Amino acid sequence: MSTAAKRPTIIVDCDPGHDDVFALVVANHYANLVGITAVHGNAPLSRTLPNALIACDVFGIGAPVFAGADRPLVAPPRNAPHIHGESGLGGPELPPVRRAAEKTGAVEAIIELVRKHEGEGVWLAPLGPLTNIALALRAAPDLGKRIAGISLMGGGTLHGNRAPHAEFNIWADPEAASTVFNYGGPLKMVGLNTTHQVVITKEFVQRVSALGTPSAKFAAELLDFFSTTYGEQLGVYGGPLHDPCAIFAITHPDLFDLREKRVDIELHGEFTRGMTAVDERPIVQSKKEKPNALVAYEPKSAQIFELIYEALATSPSA
Ligand code: RIB
Ligand code: CA
Repeated sequence: MSTAAKRPTIIVDCDPGHDDVFALVVANHYANLVGITAVHGNAPLSRTLPNALIACDVFGIGAPVFAGADRPLVAPPRNAPHIHGESGLGGPELPPVRRAAEKTGAVEAIIELVRKHEGEGVWLAPLGPLTNIALALRAAPDLGKRIAGISLMGGGTLHGNRAPHAEFNIWADPEAASTVFNYGGPLKMVGLNTTHQVVITKEFVQRVSALGTPSAKFAAELLDFFSTTYGEQLGVYGGPLHDPCAIFAITHPDLFDLREKRVDIELHGEFTRGMTAVDERPIVQSKKEKPNALVAYEPKSAQIFELIYEALATSPSA
């Protein structure tokens, strides 16, 4: 079993979204989760924000939640109801929202939290379109030097999902993604080439359900809905648990093979807008553009599911 390094300090930027919820659970369990910012994405912000608050309630997560951008920088807003349902969290009956979001907006919160926790080395973990992170980097040009790094779920080296060559989070706001990939500091990219090897099974859903607690029941219903809608897309039951992987790339980096690559965001291609153009040429590094990312490959999927199970089994509200 992989062992965690010292609990890193993390701000999660998310668009819950089924897999985002499991990322929040593992971030809360294996890291010092100091803030959660919501962004448009899988559903409009009017849903992803309450969904983040509901996830905190159900799984006993105490981090403050902040509202972020309700649309991309340039592109029109687009969501993914065919995967996540109209609510963004299809499957379980959603409880009423009991907690309130903070008054501060996401961009200001990211800047303030990074300054407050700078000595701890703060990681940003964006799990949705990169609008909030790009706006924060633009608003505070010193932000990039104050963070330990960014570990994002997005892109891929082989194929897209929302378009043949574009993964949803990058495709939904390519201009923001380009800002983030060029910010100049440490960046881990956990894309579809990796997350499509971390796929939910019926056995895992049953194991979670068998925990028998209200939060485990909620989790199992999320996993089943997501695996069913993904099953309609992929032809076989099972959703890839994308977003927790970007958290594990911070907390348990030895679960992946992280390779230095140059990654650029395609902004103009008729068929490739939103693509992560990863330089995979088999030529020596000195002849390529300088790398700007550690790209994740070869996830240890069985260990990842064990760590998720452990986090669910010991969830504070379990
Ligand atoms: O393409 C997968 C990503 O898009 C995940 O982050 C999922 O939650 C959606 O945002
Ligand atoms: Ca997401």
